[in-house]
Amino acid sequence: MQSSLRRVFAGTFCIGAAALLIHACSRPSGKASSVLTGDAASKVYVAPGSYDEFYSFLSGGFSGQVAVYGLPSGRLLKVIPVFSQNAENGWGYNEETKPMLQTTFGFIPWDDTHHTELSMTDGVPDGRWLFINGNNTPRIARIDLTRFETDEILQIPNAAGGHASPFTTPDTKYVVSATRFSVPVPNTDVPIESYKQNFKGTLSFIKANVPGKMDIAFQILMPGYNYDLGHAGKGPSDGWFFFTSYNSEQANEKLESNASQNDKDYIAAVNYALAEKCVADGKAKAFPSQYVHNWMDEASRSAKTEMKTSVKMLDPRDCPGMVYYLPTPKSPHGVDIDPTGEYIVAGGKLASVIPVHSFTKMQKAIQNKAFDGELSGIPILKYAEVMAGEVQKPGLGPLHTEFDGKGYAYTSMFISSEVVKWKLGTWEVVDRVPTYYSIGHLMIPGGDSKKPWGKYLVAMNKITKDRYLPTGPEMAQSAQLFDISGDKMKLLLDFPTIGEPHYAQAIPASMIRDKSIKFYELAKSGSPHVTKSEAAGGIRRDGNKVHVNMIAIRSHFAPDNLEGVMVGDTVLFHVTNIEQDWDILHGFAVLGAENSELILNPGETRTLKWVPKTAGVYPFYCTDFCSALHQEMSGYIRVSAPGSSVKLSANTSPKAKAQLTAPAQKGESGR
Ligand code: CUA
Repeated sequence: MQSSLRRVFAGTFCIGAAALLIHACSRPSGKASSVLTGDAASKVYVAPGSYDEFYSFLSGGFSGQVAVYGLPSGRLLKVIPVFSQNAENGWGYNEETKPMLQTTFGFIPWDDTHHTELSMTDGVPDGRWLFINGNNTPRIARIDLTRFETDEILQIPNAAGGHASPFTTPDTKYVVSATRFSVPVPNTDVPIESYKQNFKGTLSFIKANVPGKMDIAFQILMPGYNYDLGHAGKGPSDGWFFFTSYNSEQANEKLESNASQNDKDYIAAVNYALAEKCVADGKAKAFPSQYVHNWMDEASRSAKTEMKTSVKMLDPRDCPGMVYYLPTPKSPHGVDIDPTGEYIVAGGKLASVIPVHSFTKMQKAIQNKAFDGELSGIPILKYAEVMAGEVQKPGLGPLHTEFDGKGYAYTSMFISSEVVKWKLGTWEVVDRVPTYYSIGHLMIPGGDSKKPWGKYLVAMNKITKDRYLPTGPEMAQSAQLFDISGDKMKLLLDFPTIGEPHYAQAIPASMIRDKSIKFYELAKSGSPHVTKSEAAGGIRRDGNKVHVNMIAIRSHFAPDNLEGVMVGDTVLFHVTNIEQDWDILHGFAVLGAENSELILNPGETRTLKWVPKTAGVYPFYCTDFCSALHQEMSGYIRVSAPGSSVKLSANTSPKAKAQLTAPAQKGESGR
């Protein structure tokens, strides 16, 4: 019954050529239920108490976050907040993390994340960091994988839509970001119809190998196309970076048709080793640019913000040999480099073939000056001189390719909604398997690196339709796990994800698991607001700011009775979880707070700002069920009318109280 309904439904769904470009056709096998054999079930079964083989990091798409899933089970392990405020744990709401979301546009509580990228050593993911881009307000974030926390965010100036990002070089010296939307550079008030004259693209190379020190190494000023995706060379092509672009027509309206006119667009091949030399030789111009760098200070675990004011801008005309164009059919999306570093695979989303360029042939063509003219000082290489081969009849709408390290490539086909497996060198299609529905990115652990762990493939689908129980007009997002260890790909599992899973990366769990830290050492805390013991807690007035220093431990806060606060005050609850034990967290929430709760990792200090509006007594409590007496973990703060004579007090131990009320009274006298 269910599968016949699906057939009928999918048939309706596929009618019309226009629909073909908007949605993919599903390819109902009519045997969907029999796919999930006991064999498939046992392959994804991770017994209670056992661990998954891989960590996978899925972009949260328009949730602005990263979600961590175990593979093969598809179990959600954690949501790592990055670009969006996260009320669940106070990210972007508490005072320590708010600066992470600062930009030149002010405080921005949201972004659209697209591509996760693991740091690499010698071209292989190393499990130190995960990078992810903000697409709407171009930014790149670094996540530390000993703590699964965002530690750093760098804004990208002279860009709009940081889509081709944050792909890394094999040594993580750089991550890159290229602009999806060309804009006036610098951005000024010009007619939109002056696009061809005034709009430019930029390719940014960002220093990435020192935590807390990300910065723009240099930018390359490019023609005003739309830059879409990128990947670094490796092995023989190490030192080069490849970026796809579309809209070489430079249309500024109705891009759907106007940017699809040319038979070929371009992959920009950038010799960044040469770019470095040109920068060192003074060929780059200092270009005034405002952008923000935010990082989590390690000692205080409080975020800091700095404003940057200039970048080094390289014009390809001033650094001959730095950029070449590889003509590529047709509005290419992905550009993926095989594990040997020889093949440059493009996904022309409207192309009928998968074109593959050869790095060796590209080098020869450059030597022989086999050019078809130039654009803005960038030589265009002859297509026939650089092409290694074309995969014929792969399906419709090739987007992205990853590799299994055994000589095969796997390409996602959006329109025909399938994964196509083909052989490098012979370009023959050897297998194909439907996805449900409309696959975008696909991911093999390490599948864009020198050494893929080619056991599983995850399809990240754009449309879910009938795959899960209905949940109203919006369905859960859809990812699917395939076994690619044999000749034929096998569907193992559907698992829903949070936000649109644009892209993912995965790494064997053994490379991260044992490095995971269990708590923050209280003795080493450099937080200016830490309270290291119960006796050290208290309350202090500084003008109309009232600082409360409080500890949380099973199963109480200390102090837990506070008086002397007045309407018009701003109360700052600095709460320290003084537990030194793995996974013992506390929370903090106060009645009427307009932001969120705090969630406190063991050994961590976080600050909640609260501006009480009316006199009264307000309870606060622990939000994270921590012990048998969790419900008892609560307290009260009394708020009096302005000018009240109620003495500022906190019921810390009498000794501590004497110490702490002393400076407080000084502050009070200033009122
Ligand atoms: Cu502490 Cu519940």
